Amino acid sequence: MKKVGIIGWRGMVGSVLIDRMRAENDFSKFDSYFYSTSQVGQAAPKEAQNDLLIDAYDLDSLADMDAIITCQGGDYTKKVFSDLRSKGWNGHWVDAASTLRMSEDSIIVLDPVNDTHIRESYNKGIKNFIGGNCTVSLMLMAVGSLFNEGLVEWVSSMTYQAASGAGAKNMKELLRQMEQIGQLASKMKDDSILDIDKSITSFMNSNEIEQELFGVPLGGSLIPWIDSKVDKGQTREEWKGISETNKIINSAVEIPIDGTCVRIGALRCHSQALTIKLNKNLPITEIEHLIKNSNEWVRFVPNEVEETKNLLTPTSVSGKLDIAVGRVRKMNIGENYLNVFTVGDQLLWGAAEPIRRALNFIINEKY
Ligand code: HSE
Repeated sequence: MKKVGIIGWRGMVGSVLIDRMRAENDFSKFDSYFYSTSQVGQAAPKEAQNDLLIDAYDLDSLADMDAIITCQGGDYTKKVFSDLRSKGWNGHWVDAASTLRMSEDSIIVLDPVNDTHIRESYNKGIKNFIGGNCTVSLMLMAVGSLFNEGLVEWVSSMTYQAASGAGAKNMKELLRQMEQIGQLASKMKDDSILDIDKSITSFMNSNEIEQELFGVPLGGSLIPWIDSKVDKGQTREEWKGISETNKIINSAVEIPIDGTCVRIGALRCHSQALTIKLNKNLPITEIEHLIKNSNEWVRFVPNEVEETKNLLTPTSVSGKLDIAVGRVRKMNIGENYLNVFTVGDQLLWGAAEPIRRALNFIINEKY
Protein backbone atom coordinates (compact mmCIF):
# COMPACT_ATOMS: atom_id res chain seq x y z
CA MET A 1 0.00 0.00 0.00
CA LYS A 2 1.16 3.53 -0.72
CA LYS A 3 1.96 5.80 2.20
CA VAL A 4 0.10 9.09 2.57
CA GLY A 5 1.09 11.79 5.07
CA ILE A 6 -1.79 13.93 6.31
CA ILE A 7 -1.18 17.41 7.73
CA GLY A 8 -3.65 20.06 8.89
CA TRP A 9 -6.50 17.60 9.35
CA ARG A 10 -7.89 19.23 12.51
CA GLY A 11 -8.68 22.69 11.12
CA MET A 12 -11.95 23.53 9.40
CA VAL A 13 -11.05 22.45 5.84
CA GLY A 14 -9.02 19.53 7.17
CA SER A 15 -11.94 18.28 9.27
CA VAL A 16 -14.29 18.46 6.28
CA LEU A 17 -11.68 16.59 4.26
CA ILE A 18 -11.35 13.80 6.84
CA ASP A 19 -15.15 13.47 7.05
CA ARG A 20 -15.35 13.09 3.29
CA MET A 21 -12.45 10.61 3.26
CA ARG A 22 -14.25 8.52 5.88
CA ALA A 23 -17.54 8.73 4.00
CA GLU A 24 -15.87 7.52 0.79
CA ASN A 25 -13.83 4.83 2.52
CA ASP A 26 -10.61 6.44 1.22
CA PHE A 27 -8.54 5.24 4.17
CA SER A 28 -8.82 1.65 2.96
CA LYS A 29 -6.96 2.59 -0.23
CA PHE A 30 -3.62 3.64 1.31
CA ASP A 31 -1.70 3.66 4.57
CA SER A 32 -2.23 6.95 6.38
CA TYR A 33 0.27 8.70 8.60
CA PHE A 34 -1.02 11.63 10.62
CA TYR A 35 1.23 14.60 11.40
CA SER A 36 0.91 17.67 13.60
CA THR A 37 2.64 21.03 13.85
CA SER A 38 1.59 21.56 17.47
CA GLN A 39 0.51 18.32 19.13
CA VAL A 40 3.32 15.91 18.33
CA GLY A 41 3.17 12.77 20.44
CA GLN A 42 -0.56 12.91 21.09
CA ALA A 43 -2.79 10.04 19.96
CA ALA A 44 -3.38 9.82 16.21
CA PRO A 45 -6.86 9.13 14.74
CA LYS A 46 -7.99 5.52 14.39
CA GLU A 47 -7.16 5.38 10.67
CA ALA A 48 -3.47 6.18 11.24
CA GLN A 49 -0.66 3.64 10.95
CA ASN A 50 1.19 5.66 13.59
CA ASP A 51 -0.13 5.53 17.15
CA LEU A 52 1.19 8.99 18.00
CA LEU A 53 1.16 12.13 15.88
CA ILE A 54 4.42 12.70 13.99
CA ASP A 55 6.17 16.07 13.85
CA ALA A 56 4.98 17.80 10.65
CA TYR A 57 8.42 19.46 10.35
CA ASP A 58 10.26 16.11 10.39
CA LEU A 59 11.55 16.11 6.82
CA ASP A 60 13.00 12.59 7.08
CA SER A 61 9.62 11.19 8.01
CA LEU A 62 7.79 13.24 5.34
CA ALA A 63 10.31 12.11 2.73
CA ASP A 64 9.25 8.52 3.37
CA MET A 65 5.69 9.24 2.11
CA ASP A 66 4.51 8.51 -1.43
CA ALA A 67 2.09 11.41 -1.19
CA ILE A 68 1.40 14.23 1.24
CA ILE A 69 -1.94 15.99 1.59
CA THR A 70 -2.03 19.23 3.56
CA CYS A 71 -4.70 21.66 4.70
CA GLN A 72 -2.27 23.26 7.15
CA GLY A 73 -2.14 26.52 5.17
CA GLY A 74 0.29 28.52 3.09
CA ASP A 75 2.82 29.26 5.84
CA TYR A 76 3.38 25.54 6.41
CA THR A 77 3.77 24.94 2.67
CA LYS A 78 6.30 27.79 2.48
CA LYS A 79 8.27 26.35 5.39
CA VAL A 80 8.38 22.72 4.34
CA PHE A 81 7.79 22.19 0.62
CA SER A 82 11.07 23.49 -0.88
CA ASP A 83 13.22 21.87 1.80
CA LEU A 84 11.51 18.56 1.19
CA ARG A 85 12.01 18.78 -2.57
CA SER A 86 15.64 19.91 -2.02
CA LYS A 87 16.17 16.69 -0.06
CA GLY A 88 15.23 14.85 -3.26
CA TRP A 89 11.68 13.87 -2.26
CA ASN A 90 9.79 13.05 -5.45
CA GLY A 91 6.36 12.15 -4.11
CA HIS A 92 3.06 13.88 -4.85
CA TRP A 93 2.20 17.00 -2.87
CA VAL A 94 -1.54 17.74 -2.58
CA ASP A 95 -2.33 21.11 -1.03
CA ALA A 96 -5.35 23.29 -0.30
CA ALA A 97 -3.27 26.48 0.04
CA SER A 98 -2.61 29.02 -2.70
CA THR A 99 1.19 29.14 -2.27
CA LEU A 100 2.05 26.80 -5.15
CA ARG A 101 -1.06 27.22 -7.30
CA MET A 102 0.41 29.38 -10.04
CA SER A 103 3.83 27.64 -10.17
CA GLU A 104 4.68 26.11 -13.51
CA ASP A 105 5.32 22.74 -11.93
CA SER A 106 1.89 22.53 -10.33
CA ILE A 107 -1.62 21.82 -11.57
CA ILE A 108 -4.81 23.24 -10.08
CA VAL A 109 -7.11 20.26 -9.61
CA LEU A 110 -10.84 20.29 -10.33
CA ASP A 111 -11.40 16.99 -12.08
CA PRO A 112 -15.05 17.40 -13.16
CA VAL A 113 -13.75 20.34 -15.21
CA ASN A 114 -10.11 19.58 -16.05
CA ASP A 115 -9.72 15.81 -15.83
CA THR A 116 -7.93 15.66 -19.20
CA HIS A 117 -5.43 18.32 -18.13
CA ILE A 118 -4.90 16.53 -14.79
CA ARG A 119 -4.16 13.23 -16.54
CA GLU A 120 -1.81 14.87 -19.06
CA SER A 121 0.04 16.68 -16.28
CA TYR A 122 0.27 13.51 -14.19
CA ASN A 123 1.68 11.58 -17.16
CA LYS A 124 4.18 14.39 -17.78
CA GLY A 125 5.43 13.95 -14.22
CA ILE A 126 3.81 16.95 -12.52
CA LYS A 127 3.91 16.17 -8.81
CA ASN A 128 2.18 19.16 -7.20
CA PHE A 129 -1.61 18.95 -7.17
CA ILE A 130 -3.16 22.08 -5.71
CA GLY A 131 -6.80 22.92 -4.95
CA GLY A 132 -8.08 26.14 -6.52
CA ASN A 133 -9.52 29.22 -4.92
CA CYS A 134 -13.03 28.45 -3.70
CA THR A 135 -14.92 30.99 -5.81
CA VAL A 136 -13.03 29.90 -8.92
CA SER A 137 -13.65 26.20 -8.32
CA LEU A 138 -17.33 26.81 -7.54
CA MET A 139 -17.84 28.97 -10.64
CA LEU A 140 -16.24 26.34 -12.86
CA MET A 141 -18.23 23.52 -11.27
CA ALA A 142 -21.32 25.52 -12.29
CA VAL A 143 -20.45 26.66 -15.82
CA GLY A 144 -17.25 24.79 -16.69
CA SER A 145 -18.97 23.11 -19.63
CA LEU A 146 -19.43 26.50 -21.34
CA PHE A 147 -15.67 27.12 -21.01
CA ASN A 148 -14.78 23.61 -22.15
CA GLU A 149 -17.03 23.98 -25.20
CA GLY A 150 -15.12 27.15 -26.13
CA LEU A 151 -18.25 29.29 -25.84
CA VAL A 152 -17.08 31.94 -23.38
CA GLU A 153 -15.78 35.31 -24.57
CA TRP A 154 -15.61 36.86 -21.08
CA VAL A 155 -17.20 36.62 -17.63
CA SER A 156 -18.07 39.18 -15.01
CA SER A 157 -18.41 37.46 -11.65
CA MET A 158 -19.94 39.30 -8.70
CA THR A 159 -19.47 37.19 -5.61
CA TYR A 160 -21.31 36.83 -2.31
CA GLN A 161 -18.74 35.01 -0.18
CA ALA A 162 -19.44 33.34 3.13
CA ALA A 163 -17.61 33.98 6.39
CA SER A 164 -16.02 30.52 6.26
CA GLY A 165 -13.70 31.74 3.50
CA ALA A 166 -12.10 33.99 6.10
CA GLY A 167 -11.77 31.16 8.65
CA ALA A 168 -13.51 29.36 11.48
CA LYS A 169 -12.98 32.18 13.98
CA ASN A 170 -14.55 34.65 11.56
CA MET A 171 -17.65 32.45 11.33
CA LYS A 172 -17.95 32.67 15.11
CA GLU A 173 -17.47 36.44 15.01
CA LEU A 174 -20.28 36.72 12.45
CA LEU A 175 -22.57 34.68 14.70
CA ARG A 176 -21.66 36.81 17.70
CA GLN A 177 -22.45 39.98 15.74
CA MET A 178 -25.83 38.51 14.78
CA GLU A 179 -26.46 37.59 18.40
CA GLN A 180 -25.60 41.10 19.64
CA ILE A 181 -27.83 42.71 17.01
CA GLY A 182 -30.62 40.24 17.82
CA GLN A 183 -30.37 40.96 21.55
CA LEU A 184 -30.68 44.69 20.97
CA ALA A 185 -33.63 44.20 18.60
CA SER A 186 -35.40 41.89 21.03
CA LYS A 187 -35.29 44.57 23.74
CA MET A 188 -37.02 46.97 21.34
CA LYS A 189 -39.55 44.69 19.69
CA ASP A 190 -42.53 46.91 20.52
CA ASP A 191 -40.83 50.07 19.24
CA SER A 192 -41.32 51.47 15.75
CA ILE A 193 -39.15 49.92 13.05
CA LEU A 194 -37.49 53.29 12.41
CA ASP A 195 -36.46 53.55 16.07
CA ILE A 196 -35.18 49.97 16.02
CA ASP A 197 -33.23 50.66 12.84
CA LYS A 198 -31.73 53.84 14.32
CA SER A 199 -30.55 52.03 17.46
CA ILE A 200 -29.13 49.10 15.53
CA THR A 201 -27.34 51.33 13.03
CA SER A 202 -25.87 53.35 15.89
CA PHE A 203 -24.79 50.11 17.66
CA MET A 204 -23.23 48.75 14.46
CA ASN A 205 -21.27 51.97 14.01
CA SER A 206 -19.96 51.82 17.58
CA ASN A 207 -17.11 49.85 19.06
CA GLU A 208 -19.57 47.80 21.10
CA ILE A 209 -20.20 45.29 18.34
CA GLU A 210 -17.55 42.60 18.17
CA GLN A 211 -15.36 43.14 15.12
CA GLU A 212 -11.88 42.05 16.05
CA LEU A 213 -11.37 39.88 12.95
CA PHE A 214 -13.46 41.49 10.22
CA GLY A 215 -12.72 45.01 11.53
CA VAL A 216 -16.34 46.00 10.88
CA PRO A 217 -19.75 44.38 11.29
CA LEU A 218 -20.51 41.72 8.68
CA GLY A 219 -23.82 40.60 10.23
CA GLY A 220 -26.45 43.03 8.93
CA SER A 221 -23.94 44.46 6.45
CA LEU A 222 -21.38 43.34 3.85
CA ILE A 223 -17.74 43.97 2.96
CA PRO A 224 -16.94 44.56 -0.72
CA TRP A 225 -13.26 43.71 -0.27
CA ILE A 226 -11.59 40.30 0.16
CA ASP A 227 -7.85 39.82 0.64
CA SER A 228 -5.08 42.30 -0.19
CA LYS A 229 -4.87 44.92 -2.94
CA VAL A 230 -3.07 43.99 -6.14
CA ASP A 231 -2.66 45.93 -9.40
CA LYS A 232 -5.27 48.03 -11.21
CA GLY A 233 -7.47 48.38 -8.10
CA GLN A 234 -8.27 44.68 -7.96
CA THR A 235 -8.17 42.57 -4.83
CA ARG A 236 -6.17 39.34 -4.81
CA GLU A 237 -9.43 37.37 -4.66
CA GLU A 238 -10.58 39.12 -7.87
CA TRP A 239 -7.20 38.53 -9.54
CA LYS A 240 -7.48 34.81 -8.79
CA GLY A 241 -10.67 34.74 -10.87
CA ILE A 242 -8.85 35.36 -14.12
CA SER A 243 -5.50 33.73 -13.31
CA GLU A 244 -6.71 30.50 -11.79
CA THR A 245 -9.66 29.97 -14.13
CA ASN A 246 -7.42 30.17 -17.18
CA LYS A 247 -4.88 27.85 -15.58
CA ILE A 248 -7.53 25.28 -14.61
CA ILE A 249 -9.07 25.12 -18.07
CA ASN A 250 -5.60 25.29 -19.64
CA SER A 251 -6.78 27.99 -21.99
CA ALA A 252 -4.48 28.79 -24.94
CA VAL A 253 -5.79 32.37 -25.05
CA GLU A 254 -6.58 34.12 -21.77
CA ILE A 255 -10.33 34.57 -21.25
CA PRO A 256 -11.05 37.85 -19.43
CA ILE A 257 -12.76 37.39 -16.06
CA ASP A 258 -13.37 40.15 -13.54
CA GLY A 259 -15.83 41.36 -10.95
CA THR A 260 -16.20 42.48 -7.36
CA CYS A 261 -15.69 39.95 -4.58
CA VAL A 262 -17.93 40.65 -1.61
CA ARG A 263 -18.02 39.08 1.85
CA ILE A 264 -21.57 38.56 3.09
CA GLY A 265 -23.10 37.11 6.24
CA ALA A 266 -23.59 33.54 5.00
CA LEU A 267 -21.82 30.83 6.96
CA ARG A 268 -20.19 28.46 4.43
CA CYS A 269 -21.70 28.84 0.95
CA HIS A 270 -20.30 31.15 -1.66
CA SER A 271 -22.73 32.52 -4.24
CA GLN A 272 -21.94 34.25 -7.50
CA ALA A 273 -23.90 36.30 -10.01
CA LEU A 274 -22.32 35.74 -13.40
CA THR A 275 -22.67 37.75 -16.57
CA ILE A 276 -21.28 35.59 -19.36
CA LYS A 277 -20.63 36.94 -22.83
CA LEU A 278 -20.92 33.98 -25.16
CA ASN A 279 -19.17 34.04 -28.49
CA LYS A 280 -22.28 32.81 -30.29
CA ASN A 281 -26.01 33.17 -30.05
CA LEU A 282 -27.03 29.72 -28.80
CA PRO A 283 -30.66 28.88 -27.99
CA ILE A 284 -31.32 29.01 -24.23
CA THR A 285 -32.39 25.34 -24.27
CA GLU A 286 -28.98 24.34 -25.57
CA ILE A 287 -27.22 26.45 -22.93
CA GLU A 288 -29.37 24.90 -20.21
CA HIS A 289 -28.60 21.43 -21.54
CA LEU A 290 -24.85 22.12 -21.39
CA ILE A 291 -25.05 23.46 -17.83
CA LYS A 292 -27.29 20.61 -16.59
CA ASN A 293 -24.87 18.06 -18.00
CA SER A 294 -21.68 19.79 -16.81
CA ASN A 295 -21.15 17.21 -14.08
CA GLU A 296 -23.16 15.05 -11.72
CA TRP A 297 -23.17 17.66 -8.94
CA VAL A 298 -24.96 20.45 -10.82
CA ARG A 299 -28.50 20.97 -9.52
CA PHE A 300 -30.21 23.05 -12.16
CA VAL A 301 -32.83 25.37 -10.71
CA PRO A 302 -35.60 26.54 -13.06
CA ASN A 303 -35.85 30.31 -13.35
CA GLU A 304 -39.02 30.49 -11.23
CA VAL A 305 -39.67 32.21 -7.93
CA GLU A 306 -40.43 29.25 -5.64
CA GLU A 307 -37.66 27.01 -6.98
CA THR A 308 -35.16 29.87 -6.76
CA LYS A 309 -36.10 30.80 -3.19
CA ASN A 310 -36.02 27.20 -2.04
CA LEU A 311 -33.10 25.75 -3.97
CA LEU A 312 -30.72 28.53 -4.99
CA THR A 313 -29.58 29.79 -1.61
CA PRO A 314 -26.71 29.24 0.84
CA THR A 315 -29.30 27.85 3.28
CA SER A 316 -30.37 25.08 0.92
CA VAL A 317 -26.91 24.17 -0.35
CA SER A 318 -24.90 24.31 2.89
CA GLY A 319 -23.19 21.03 3.81
CA LYS A 320 -23.97 19.45 0.43
CA LEU A 321 -21.83 18.63 -2.58
CA ASP A 322 -24.56 20.09 -4.80
CA ILE A 323 -23.71 23.00 -7.06
CA ALA A 324 -26.96 24.93 -7.48
CA VAL A 325 -27.21 26.80 -10.77
CA GLY A 326 -30.19 28.96 -11.67
CA ARG A 327 -31.49 32.34 -12.86
CA VAL A 328 -30.28 31.21 -16.27
CA ARG A 329 -31.61 33.58 -18.93
CA LYS A 330 -30.52 35.72 -21.84
CA MET A 331 -30.04 39.32 -20.75
CA ASN A 332 -31.66 42.41 -22.23
CA ILE A 333 -28.18 43.63 -23.13
CA GLY A 334 -28.05 41.27 -26.10
CA GLU A 335 -28.61 37.70 -27.27
CA ASN A 336 -25.06 36.59 -26.45
CA TYR A 337 -25.22 37.77 -22.83
CA LEU A 338 -26.15 35.15 -20.27
CA ASN A 339 -27.24 35.68 -16.68
CA VAL A 340 -26.44 32.88 -14.20
CA PHE A 341 -26.56 32.63 -10.40
CA THR A 342 -24.77 29.81 -8.63
CA VAL A 343 -24.27 28.63 -5.04
CA GLY A 344 -21.80 26.07 -3.71
CA ASP A 345 -20.41 24.94 -0.37
CA GLN A 346 -17.09 26.70 0.12
CA LEU A 347 -15.66 23.93 2.29
CA LEU A 348 -16.71 21.01 0.06
CA TRP A 349 -16.26 21.66 -3.69
CA GLY A 350 -14.67 24.99 -2.74
CA ALA A 351 -11.85 23.38 -0.75
CA ALA A 352 -11.79 19.76 0.46
CA GLU A 353 -13.40 17.78 -2.36
CA PRO A 354 -11.06 18.63 -5.27
CA ILE A 355 -7.99 17.66 -3.23
CA ARG A 356 -9.62 14.54 -1.79
CA ARG A 357 -10.31 13.37 -5.32
CA ALA A 358 -6.83 14.39 -6.50
CA LEU A 359 -5.31 12.18 -3.80
CA ASN A 360 -7.47 9.26 -4.93
CA PHE A 361 -6.34 9.83 -8.50
CA ILE A 362 -2.67 9.87 -7.51
CA ILE A 363 -3.03 6.66 -5.54
CA ASN A 364 -5.31 4.70 -7.90
CA GLU A 365 -5.44 6.71 -11.13
CA LYS A 366 -9.18 7.07 -10.58
CA TYR A 367 -11.22 9.49 -8.50
N1 HSE B 1 -10.30 33.28 -0.36
C1 HSE B 1 -11.57 32.67 -0.12
C2 HSE B 1 -12.44 33.58 0.70
C3 HSE B 1 -11.48 31.37 0.59
O1 HSE B 1 -11.90 34.48 1.34
O2 HSE B 1 -13.64 33.41 0.72
C4 HSE B 1 -10.42 30.44 0.15
O3 HSE B 1 -10.47 30.04 -1.19
